[in-house]
Amino acid sequence: MAAMLPLSIVVLAAGQGTRMRSTLPKVLHPLAGKPLLQHVIDTARQLLPQRILIVYGHGGAEVRRRMNASDLHWVEQAQQLGTGHAMAQTLPELADESVSLVLYGDVPLIQHTTLRPLVASAQAGKLALLTVNLTDPRGYGRIVRDAQAAVQCIVEEKDASAEQKRITEVNTGILAAHSDKLRQWLAQLNSNNAQGEYYLTDIIAMAVQQGIAVQTSQPQTATEVLGVNSRGQLAELERVYQRQQAEQFMAQGVSFRDPARVDFRGEVSFGRDVEVDINCIFSGKVTIGDNVRIGAGSIISNSQIESGVEILPLCVIEDTHIGSHSRVGPYSRLRPGAVLKGDNHIGNFVEIKNSEIGLGSKVNHLSYVGDTQMGGKVNIGAGTITANYDGANKHRTIIQDHASTGSNTVLVAPVTVGKGATIGAGSVITKQAPAEKLTLTRAKQITVEGWQRPSKKTRD
Ligand code: UD1
Ligand code: CA
Repeated sequence: MAAMLPLSIVVLAAGQGTRMRSTLPKVLHPLAGKPLLQHVIDTARQLLPQRILIVYGHGGAEVRRRMNASDLHWVEQAQQLGTGHAMAQTLPELADESVSLVLYGDVPLIQHTTLRPLVASAQAGKLALLTVNLTDPRGYGRIVRDAQAAVQCIVEEKDASAEQKRITEVNTGILAAHSDKLRQWLAQLNSNNAQGEYYLTDIIAMAVQQGIAVQTSQPQTATEVLGVNSRGQLAELERVYQRQQAEQFMAQGVSFRDPARVDFRGEVSFGRDVEVDINCIFSGKVTIGDNVRIGAGSIISNSQIESGVEILPLCVIEDTHIGSHSRVGPYSRLRPGAVLKGDNHIGNFVEIKNSEIGLGSKVNHLSYVGDTQMGGKVNIGAGTITANYDGANKHRTIIQDHASTGSNTVLVAPVTVGKGATIGAGSVITKQAPAEKLTLTRAKQITVEGWQRPSKKTRD
C-alpha cells in the first residue's frame, strides 16, 4: 500500500448568510452555545489533519478573531464567485502531495466517523463524494449516474433538466481527493452555467473523463449534512443536537423527565443514576457525580457537583463546587468561587459568592454570604448579610465552627465570629464576636404608655 499522504482540510465559510438577517457572520451564530464554525473545526481536528484552511469572506476579521488558534490557516475569498472559486483560493496553500477534504462552515453536525471513509477513498486515489437521499431534493445538486450506476456528474438544481430534477440522491458538498488532482481540475473550471458561478461540483465530470473512480458514501444520519441558512434551520439543528446529547446521556444512565426539555451548551459529564427534571441548562464544563437530583429550571455552568447532591428547582449555579450530600434551593444563587464542602443546606433566596462553606453548615433562608470563610456546622439565620464591600474594597468575613447567627444579622467585614459564638437576632456586628458567647447589638424594646394612634381630622 502506498504511504499515507498528509491531510489538508478546507472549510468553506465565505458565504454571506443573507437569510440570517444578522450583523453577526453566519458561521459565528451559536449552536449549543458554540459557533457553527467551531463545531466544524472541532470535528476536523479529530481527523488529525496536517492543516486546516478556512476560506473566509464576509465578516472575516471578526471570524478570525473569534476562532483564533495556531493550527488554523486563513484564506480570503474577496468576492464570492462560487464554491469552485472558493476552493481555488486555497491552492497556493495546498501541497500537491496531500489529500484535501472539503467541509462547510455552515454544516455543523458532520461527524468524523462519516468523514473517515471519504479520506480513505481519497488516499486510495479516488474522488470521494458524500451524498444523501432526500425525499425532497429541491435546491441541491443532483448526482447523475449511468446505467451501471457509476457517477457521471453533478448537476445543480438551476441547471437540471426536468428528468434530472427527479433524482433524489443529492450532493452534500463534502468531498475529498488528491490535492494535485484538485489543482488540475480547478484550473479548468468556468462559469458557463445558470448562476454564472464557478461550481466545485464540475470537477466530478472531469474526474470521470480521466477515468478516476468516483466513490460515494453516505452519512449515518441525514441530519449530519444539514446546512444552516436561516434562523429557522439553526433552531431545528439545535433541537437535533440537543436530542442527540440527551440520548447519549440516557444511554450512560442519566434520567431526564423530558429529554426534549434540557439543553447542553458545553461539556457535561454525569455519574450514574442522575435525575434531571425539565428545563435545565448545563453550560461550560460541568461535572456531576452519582445519584444527583436536579430540580426543574436550574441553570448550571462551569461547576462540579459531587455525589448525592440534591438541587431543588430554579437554582442558578456558576463556577461553584458543591460537596456531596448537600441540598441546594429552591431559588438559590451560587456565584463564582462558592465552595460547599459537603452536607450543606443552602435554601431559598440565598446568594453565595467567593466563599467556603464548611462541612454540614446551613444557610437556609434569605441571606448573602460573600468573601467568607465559614467553618463546619455553622447555622446562618434567615436574613444574615455579610457586608463585604465598603464602596471601594472587599473585605473578608470569618465564621468559625459551630457559630450561629440570629435572623437579620449584618456582619460588617472585616470581622470574625468565633468558634461556637452566637449572634443575637437583628445585630450589626462590626467587631470580633468572641467564641462560645452571645453577642448582640440591639436597641432596648420600650413600650410608650398613654400613646394614642392619630386619627383623621374631620372637616366641619
Ligand atoms: C452547493 C453545491 C450543491 C450542494 C449544496 C449542498 C456547488 C456548486 N453546489 O450548493 O451541489 O447540493 O451545496 O448544500 O458547489 N461558499 C464560499 N464561497 C462562495 C460560495 C460558497 O465560501 O463563493 C461556501 C458557503 O459559505 C457555504 C458553501 O460554500 O458554506 C456552500 O455554498 P452555497 O452557496 O450554500 O452552495 P449551494 O449553491 O447551496
Ligand atoms: Ca449558492
